[in-house]
Amino acid sequence: MNVAVIGANGGIGRELVQRLADAGHDPIGVVRDEAQFETIRERGGEPRLGDLEGEFATALEGADAVVFTAGAGGDTGWDKTLMIDLWGARRTIDACVEQGIDRFVMISSIQASNPLAAPEAIRPYLVAKRSADDYLRSTGLEATIVRPTALTDDEGTGQISVAFEHRGEDGDDIPRADVAQTVVACLETAATTGETIRLFGGETPIEQAIIPDE
Ligand SMILES: NC(=O)c1ccc[n+]([C@@H]2O[C@H](COP(=O)([O-])OP(=O)(O)OC[C@H]3O[C@@H](n4cnc5c(N)ncnc54)[C@H](OP(=O)(O)O)[C@@H]3O)[C@@H](O)[C@H]2O)c1
Repeated sequence: MNVAVIGANGGIGRELVQRLADAGHDPIGVVRDEAQFETIRERGGEPRLGDLEGEFATALEGADAVVFTAGAGGDTGWDKTLMIDLWGARRTIDACVEQGIDRFVMISSIQASNPLAAPEAIRPYLVAKRSADDYLRSTGLEATIVRPTALTDDEGTGQISVAFEHRGEDGDDIPRADVAQTVVACLETAATTGETIRLFGGETPIEQAIIPDE
């Protein structure tokens, strides 16, 4: 599968490009700076330029699926949250609709389902994530929305714990590597299409954990 990764130079993104290539897929690493091309090549990806605030149109050409794992990060202002986490995500979704790319995996966030229940300092970020998720669902794309809890840079374990949207709330932090591996598993498991999956560290093998309940 040709999978375009938006945010390919980020923490999850770099892990994801490598894991897609290791699993026999053809990752396209979309980055906003040519200086990042070598990092993508080293991980087995084809680098492409695409700036969510600028020139972006050709970045997804030839993709069968798209993963959005970009983000403005915690060190920028709410202006960048709006432009990247919300508007950048919408631009990516629109490009998929226009180009007939049906499969989409969104890296959202825990608590995006109810921003007002989160600490005040991160509510605007969660509103942006939730709005992007809702927009994605409104398009009818074959989408899996993944809502991880706090991310770490620990080594991947291959094991997670999940809560499908209608079930319980809390759990352990999760390594970015395990989020990346979960995305690969979701792309390879059609039953995750249409699901919103909250993701935590845990002890269930990833491929088993992501199978939805009947
Ligand atoms: N941090 C957490 O605990 C947490 C929890 C739940 C969900 N999430 C979500 O998980 C996802 C990945 O998180 P992460 O910590 O792995 O991300 P990260 O390391 O901060 O990477 C984000 C990437 O987005 C890219 N980006 C920013 N602006 C861009 C633009 N205008 N055009 C193209 N790319 C742009 C950055 O590019 P550069 O490399 O050029 O800067 C960076 O590579 C994000 O969507 C985040 O909101 C995070």
